[in-house]
Amino acid sequence: MHEKQRLAVFASGTGSNFVAIADAIDQGRLDAEIVLLVCDNSEAKVIGKARDRQIPVFVFQAKNYPSKVDYERDILQELNHCQAEWLILAGYMRLVGDTLLDPFEGRIVNIHPSLLPAFPGKDAIGQALSAGVKVTGVTVHFVDEGMDTGTIIDQEVIRIQPEDDQDTLQANIQEIEHRLFPKTIQALIQTEKREEIKS
Ligand code: GRF
Repeated sequence: MHEKQRLAVFASGTGSNFVAIADAIDQGRLDAEIVLLVCDNSEAKVIGKARDRQIPVFVFQAKNYPSKVDYERDILQELNHCQAEWLILAGYMRLVGDTLLDPFEGRIVNIHPSLLPAFPGKDAIGQALSAGVKVTGVTVHFVDEGMDTGTIIDQEVIRIQPEDDQDTLQANIQEIEHRLFPKTIQALIQTEKREEIKS
């Protein structure tokens, strides 16, 4: 195991969770380093955020490959090249296939803006508002072949206020995400280090 755990962050969008993880590392709250950003959208804002921090970026376009197996093989090559140990999904909008699931079993983690198993998939915040539930939250879970179905690692609850709309609820949820995700990754890393010492 490396002294600092080597994270590859997968993201397709804004990258606020990417920044929260990078900040937690800079501030010594997360004993890791980000060795690669994997992104499937060349327009995504997260790319600039990685480049600002001199973090290597691998951008791919799924439509340029015949199949998921083919683009995941290229990703795997990049992951091996930078010796990534954990795959951190932070707004990566694709299901992960066996090409990555097999070599990284138990080491792929996702964050989702609802209390899973409620409201999996896209627009979890909109789904919660439409359903009229009074609480929702954030889930960090291991990734399996399903859509937001893997084993739950941690969750945090938030109350939906009558005046909440998509924007306010999203802002409140992201505030939780930015705290919960680095904290949960750190807990996973610590647990693994303890287990390694024991064995
Ligand atoms: C987050 O809300 C996360 O829960 C979901 O995608 C969003 C990514 O946001 N999976 P950002 O790009 O990190 O700002």
